[in-house]
Amino acid sequence: MKETTPNRIANRWVPSILAADFGHLAEQVKAVEAAGADRLQIDIMDGHFVPNISMGPMFVGVLRKLTKLPLEAHLMVERPEDWVGPVVDQGADIVIAHAEATPHLDRVVEQISHAGRKPAVALNPATPWEEIELLLPRLSMVLLMTVNPGFGGQSFITYVTEKIAALRAWLQQQNLELDIEVDGGIDAGTLPLVAKAGANVFVAGTAIFGHARGAGQGLKELQASLHAGR
Ligand code: DX5
Repeated sequence: MKETTPNRIANRWVPSILAADFGHLAEQVKAVEAAGADRLQIDIMDGHFVPNISMGPMFVGVLRKLTKLPLEAHLMVERPEDWVGPVVDQGADIVIAHAEATPHLDRVVEQISHAGRKPAVALNPATPWEEIELLLPRLSMVLLMTVNPGFGGQSFITYVTEKIAALRAWLQQQNLELDIEVDGGIDAGTLPLVAKAGANVFVAGTAIFGHARGAGQGLKELQASLHAGR
């Protein structure tokens, strides 16, 4: 597949805290900071939008005290409009709402922007990117889920690679330099595929925090894999 990420769009590394060892959270955060993490993702799940309950907005506040890195709150919840305020109050810098979770997506994007934070929209694997075409110029980032959300450690869904490439091609035609973030099953094997297709923000939990030689090594190996497929 032709490499389509314009080289002026920087790559960003985003460890997902869901897979971290909560008994040693401060050390885990320091390890990924030292290895070059650009920000951290907090997965907020309500047991309705996804079949799992993880952590609430308070956890953004816990991370806020542990790091100066930007924090992104991934709202895997119904009615994300109810949760923008709480995660912003706890210190989230980027708020990601799922297009499938609200009939009022434009209003949620406005709400995040009015709170002075960066708005991002997430799409489940089966949701076409065209669903949010009208909103793209007002977003900082689109998160294309590469697993069905709700759990860490799942297998990468290959067909999303085509969606990444199609979105990147459209953005380039429109001269829009939007970040395309991918999340779920991202490891040293799948990362070259999504990077070549045009993703530039890489979320990983298991590949980083589940690494046998520690989270820092996990992140470094992920970074090293970026050019493996070129
Ligand atoms: C899945 C979450 C992902 C997960 C990371 O619903 O949104 O961020 O924590 O997935 P893995 O462990 O596959 O990197």
